[in-house]
Formats: sequence, structure tokens, C-alpha cells
Amino acid sequence: MIIAVDGPLASGKGTIARALATRFSLPYLDTGSLYRATGIAVLDAGIDPADTAACATIARALDIGGIDEARIRTAEAGAMASRVASIPEVRKALFDLQRAFATQPGGAILDGRDIGTVICPDADVKLYVTADTETRATRRWHELVARGETITLDEMLAQTRERDRRDAERDDAPMRPADDATLLDTSSLSIDAAVADAVAIVEKRQ
Ligand code: C5P
Repeated sequence: MIIAVDGPLASGKGTIARALATRFSLPYLDTGSLYRATGIAVLDAGIDPADTAACATIARALDIGGIDEARIRTAEAGAMASRVASIPEVRKALFDLQRAFATQPGGAILDGRDIGTVICPDADVKLYVTADTETRATRRWHELVARGETITLDEMLAQTRERDRRDAERDDAPMRPADDATLLDTSSLSIDAAVADAVAIVEKRQ
């Protein structure tokens, strides 16, 4: 079984995807981490994100085993991820890796922005997780402040709007629900309730 979970920043898609992976014993890939790691590597190498060929070279050389989890979870990494993710050559460089993960025997669960539309258009279950912008910005702000980042809620709200806009408006693999995706709005759901809804959706498709 292949499960595709897409949605915008702090919609709850990662939490839901991880819970589904445990519940259905599937290997899980957080595809945002690939774009975040590429963004950080571009920064570290002092490359201009406008240099698309150099960014693609970095993406092709990405060592998934060597990703620094703490560093890729910063607001800076998220913003850089969204910039490099709008480069078609970067997306192409990360495609095979994601596709290979998705098609391993026994199935897999992947979360991101284009899993149901581009990476796994053939997925058995497609979920598109959303929540209203203020709710998502507030969630992410709490996470970042708890990790010691200095950012105001207003800044987080502005960053959320900017990231949504860039992800939804890019030409290559824009963020959008697949036509056959089931929408799950987590705005007023607890984590447990959102996970229970997602489990029920998967069980119905089994
Ligand atoms: O999900 P996360 O917030 O970690 O993703 C970071 C960024 O990576 C997104 O804002 C998006 O620009 C990009 N991304 C993408 N396609 C994916 C996963 C993430 O473009 N499948």
C-alpha cells in the first residue's frame, strides 16, 4: 500500500503521516526534509539560490543519512527549502529517490506537497491535510519558540503566507490536492482526532 499525504506548512500532515506509518507498519519518508537539507546545503556552500544549476548539483549529491535534523527544522531552512523547491532541476534531482522509496516492496507512506499529484499519482490512498492560515502559523510559531528561535507571531504569519504562495504558485509541481485526494481539515481537531480520522480514511480504502 502506498499512502500519499500532502498539505501546507503546519497542517498536521507530518504528525498524521508518522502516526499512519506506525499504525500500518509502513516505512515513512518526510520529503520536505530533502528540500530543507538541500536549502541548508546551498546556504552552507555560499551558493546563490538563483543559480539553478548549482542548486541542482547540490540536490543530486544529497546524502540522506547525513541530514542534520536540528538544523533543517529552523524557519531559515523552511524558507530556503521553499526557494530551492521552485527550481525544476532540483525537483528532478530528488524525484528518483522519492519514487524508489515509494515503490519498495510492501509499500510506503510519504508526505510533502506533490506526492499525490507527481511522485505517486498511483497511490492507494491520498490525503490532503489543511488548516486555516492563522491556526497553522500559531502551531509552527509555538514549535519554533519552544526550540529557542526568536520570531514573532506576526513574522510567522507573514512567512506562512509567503511560503503558501510560493508553493502553490510555482509552475513545477505546485502544492495542490490531487483530484482523487480526501481532504482533512485539522483546524479544530486535536492530534488524536485528526489521526483517528486519517486512520478511518485509510481503512475504508483497504
Ligand atoms: O513540509 P516542509 O515544511 O518540511 O517542506 C519544506 C518546503 O519544501 C515546502 O515549503 C516546499 O516548498 C518544499 N516541498 C516541496 N515538495 C515536497 C515537500 C516539500 O516542494 N514534496
